[in-house]
Amino acid sequence: MLDPLDPAFARDPYPYYASLRSRGPAARVRLANGTHAWLITGYEQTRAVLADPRFSNVPAQHAGRRKADSPAQRARACLAQHMLNSDAPEHTRLRRLTAAAFSPRRVDAMGRRIEELSTQLLAGLAKRLKEDGTTDLVDELAFPLPVLVIGEVLGVPESDRNDLRDWTYRVGSPTDAFEQGVVDDAWIRLRDYFTALIADKRRFPGDDLFSVLIHDATDGGLDDDELLAMAFLLLFAGYETTMSLLASASLLMLTHPQELAAAISHPERWPAVVEETLRHASPLEGATWRRATEDVNLEGGLTIPAGSSVLTVLAAANRDPDHFPDPDVFRPDRHMPGSPGLRARPHMAFGHGPHFCVGSRLARLEALIALPRLFAAFPGLRLAADPADLPYRPGLLVRSPRLVPVTTE
Ligand code: HEM
Repeated sequence: MLDPLDPAFARDPYPYYASLRSRGPAARVRLANGTHAWLITGYEQTRAVLADPRFSNVPAQHAGRRKADSPAQRARACLAQHMLNSDAPEHTRLRRLTAAAFSPRRVDAMGRRIEELSTQLLAGLAKRLKEDGTTDLVDELAFPLPVLVIGEVLGVPESDRNDLRDWTYRVGSPTDAFEQGVVDDAWIRLRDYFTALIADKRRFPGDDLFSVLIHDATDGGLDDDELLAMAFLLLFAGYETTMSLLASASLLMLTHPQELAAAISHPERWPAVVEETLRHASPLEGATWRRATEDVNLEGGLTIPAGSSVLTVLAAANRDPDHFPDPDVFRPDRHMPGSPGLRARPHMAFGHGPHFCVGSRLARLEALIALPRLFAAFPGLRLAADPADLPYRPGLLVRSPRLVPVTTE
């Protein structure tokens, strides 16, 4: 049985996934809530499932089972009807428009603003360290930077970003973190906020990516419901994952001082540090749930029956020893040219197939701006806790340290 809320599992799920992988390409697992799911843990099988249209992304409740009957449930249901929860041909249309808005040119143009935001946050971090002697990198950098950047993507006025940060925190927190009323209130506020934002941008387009999407009329463009769900998807897909990347990369650097020293003296190593963090500490532990729409025969003779819930475990695929030698070791040089025998296959931290991450370029840009600046600004930065004691977010979706306490020498 698998209990995703078990703190020990949340911190180190890898031995469990390795034991599943050694038993075969897919395993039927009983979850602590009494349901069953198929977990895919091998690299090749993960790629195959993510590219296979017989596995649907449309959640079962959208197929007409559960009815939303409170205002908060209705708000939540309408925000959840987004592109990641859809299949072709609807997905193809939404995806084409989104990819056009997230063109490399537009994303790269955000670099200057991300630099400014990082500088502001690092000034706050310096103040905290000076006043208190210690602080938390998640609170000061890894959480606020992606939220602020998504604020830029969506063209949210700066004065509203604290609200956005607060509502996002509430709906994205583990279920036991807040009373239900507080979470319900945040769902409704998010829906109302985005509804007003879209109306506003229809009249007065900004120079943000969301305005590009709102005003792209290709194939009839997106209607208001689609835009509402898209705003929510961008917020959610964009912030928790990038928060995890920044938190895990900082932690890995602090626990691998030789790698940190090498990156500081050879800044061209930072891209390899980021890629190896994505592989070794994959921010999305599992891709979103798929459902088998028919019986599917996998290589090796296993059949996944129609109607089964299927989770491709990206964190496990990225540590498949058939593809990554010494998979549990953090070695950025796998991603450097000229490391014969070690050079990695592409990792799958950003997924694979039709739902491959739209924001991968933006996430990499954020990390490549923030991390070198963090360690250049605080050369004596040290972890202020035993890494084995750090709590991790529970659940099978996002894996991330909840705290990275630091101090300076
Ligand atoms: C380190 C950061 C990130 C990671 C690891 C990540 C990972 C992923 C993965 C694995 C998927 C596919 C999920 C699946 O197939 O079930 C995905 C989809 C997506 N991501 Fe990201 N993501 C990151 C950052 C971002 C950012 C910054 C944005 C936007 C601003 C973003 C927007 C999206 C969207 C819109 C999708 C849905 C694509 C579709 O359905 O076609 N992501 N991401």
